[in-house]
Amino acid sequence: MTTTTEQQQDQSAAVYLPHPRLVSPEGGRAKPWVSSMAEYEALYKESIAEPEQFWTRMATETLTWDRPFRHVTHGSLKNGDVAWFPDGRLNVAYNCVDRWALADPDRVAFVYEADEPGKATRVTYKELQEQVCSLANVLAAFGLRKGETVAIYMPMIPEAAVAMLACARLGLVHTVVFAGFSSASLAERVADARARVVITADEGLRGGRPIRTKAIVDEALQSCPEVEHVLVFRRTGSEGVPFSAPRDVWWHEAVAAQRPYCPPVEVSAEDPLFLLYTSGSTGKPKGVVHTSGGYLLGAALTLKYVFDIHEGDVFCCTADIGWITGHSYVVYGPLALGATSVIFESVPTYPDASRYWRLVEEHRITQFYTAPTAIRALRRHGDDFVTRCDLSSLRVIGSVGEPINPDAWTWYSEVVGGGRCAVVDTYWQTETGSHVITPLPGATPAKPGSATFPFFGVELAILDPTSGAELEGNDVSGVLAIKRPWPSMARTIAGDHKRFLDTYLKPYPGYYFAGDGASRDADGYYWIRGRVDDVINVSGHRMSTAEVESALICHPAVAESAVVGAPDEVTGQSICAFVTLKDSYTATDALTAELVKEVRTRIGPIATPKTLILVDELPKTRSGKIIRRILRKVVAGEADQLGDLSTLSDQSILEVLVNKVTAAL
Ligand code: WT7
Repeated sequence: MTTTTEQQQDQSAAVYLPHPRLVSPEGGRAKPWVSSMAEYEALYKESIAEPEQFWTRMATETLTWDRPFRHVTHGSLKNGDVAWFPDGRLNVAYNCVDRWALADPDRVAFVYEADEPGKATRVTYKELQEQVCSLANVLAAFGLRKGETVAIYMPMIPEAAVAMLACARLGLVHTVVFAGFSSASLAERVADARARVVITADEGLRGGRPIRTKAIVDEALQSCPEVEHVLVFRRTGSEGVPFSAPRDVWWHEAVAAQRPYCPPVEVSAEDPLFLLYTSGSTGKPKGVVHTSGGYLLGAALTLKYVFDIHEGDVFCCTADIGWITGHSYVVYGPLALGATSVIFESVPTYPDASRYWRLVEEHRITQFYTAPTAIRALRRHGDDFVTRCDLSSLRVIGSVGEPINPDAWTWYSEVVGGGRCAVVDTYWQTETGSHVITPLPGATPAKPGSATFPFFGVELAILDPTSGAELEGNDVSGVLAIKRPWPSMARTIAGDHKRFLDTYLKPYPGYYFAGDGASRDADGYYWIRGRVDDVINVSGHRMSTAEVESALICHPAVAESAVVGAPDEVTGQSICAFVTLKDSYTATDALTAELVKEVRTRIGPIATPKTLILVDELPKTRSGKIIRRILRKVVAGEADQLGDLSTLSDQSILEVLVNKVTAAL
């Protein structure tokens, strides 16, 4: 591999070689964990050819087991009975907190960058251990026992992580609900998870604006009578936050009554660690179940190799803990490695578009991880906001959530990374638990827009979508699948294993079906082409079209609705809803606005349709099925490529549709 003083770009193929300062660092800094493609290939080969040996070594080196496992893998994708290290026992909080609190108590676990700029605080591993223990004792005093589920609805503050870890300490299962979800969405999740306790805060604060977190919880709990306790952390201390004892308990009071040590509860590697609800192609969100041993190993190992984490590094992932990215790369991955993780409460544009970059400068962040939508949005504000900050501490910058377009990739690499950093475009999903396709910073020559190659132990396949046949060799396109189980894969959907099988394992028997289209180019690089199901990806957040449609149909004026994703320069896709009204209603701008609001209040701000078009008729087949494909093409400006229209019952509606869309977009 050639190296020069500046990052190399082979113009003909647009391949970026790893920067020499990463491959062979100076100034006594450690070499990357993997520093050549040959090394990557050797480890990858071992992980596929000798999985028992590979995973035994990784699981033993990375985690501390109370009882070592004798068996490495169990079950198959065909049977849907996958388990990893099934007879091993451990405690996730012990692995994430105690190990470092014992060895190096003053090491910083979290840097907390509050919404208000300039107010950062630090939590050491010792402090974290005490906080986790006290809170675990509070939960135990509520009568919660191993295996029960606790719901967490909190802002991005260290206490959210403390709540997750306190659950893990007791072998409780947590389900974190993103605090941008509405009360109805929260209620649905709390009920589905059968949580008896909800942990929340009085209010959130984002970009200087208060969010009425506790009030939303109260609304939700009107339909969740089985909830016995709400533990409330005081974030803003505002007056007038609703509070009703004895159900509601103040965090600070409860914690003060408990001693700051709580013995960790030993659990099986296969005991669930958390549920995380995600959108599928039907309306009802599914509670994806991750277990303790395999998940923790996946989160820790990918973080270590993909971001090349070494002692003293300060890692920052901007995702909210309400998403899997926050679980794996704000909390579990960094702490399992004993690293320092930044918890960012604010938004990238508050008080101005330099917020992220000032954060990097102030905390000397070494690895930074965000979403393409943020990269594209910040790029629009101009380079000055970036270049005025000292970003020299950065080594690896990551992207996640959706395909990153090559020009956004290049801007990220050149302007944020200063041409001196590795860009890692990491492909994975809530269900995969951790990265499955990703470059390694010291090894992989990057192609902007490609997530490159599989992580260790992940055996990929591209299948013909219709026949299910595996497409061998390079230069092929189809649907993405994984051929064998990996440790951090989801094990089931809470209370609905059949749905788990039907969604992921049955479509192509013997394979895990990811739901994405993908190609493998002539050089073997993987390119993700986006979802092949009715899921749209808005700013890296997954939304099901059916969920938005169900929200719309709740409004009395709505006869029918069809929701599709429209291409969007900043958010990747945006939500575009088509609605027909009942006869007694007339189309007005006010009604359009009301329908948009209906979705926003029912699901949450992230589901707000960017465009809502009232139409007289939706394109349908003769048997009355809505043809979403036509709507997708029309909103993508491809009305001239509608393909076969023979199934469309009334061709005359097309022209009106196209005109309406053109006027609205
Ligand atoms: C879907 C998963 C766990 C990541 C956060 C979103 C898309 C994710 C990439 C990427 C292209 C990507 C896929 C995937 N996606 N990362 N690097 N390149 N597409 O998690 O909500 O579970 O969504 O996000 O479509 O299936 P999620």
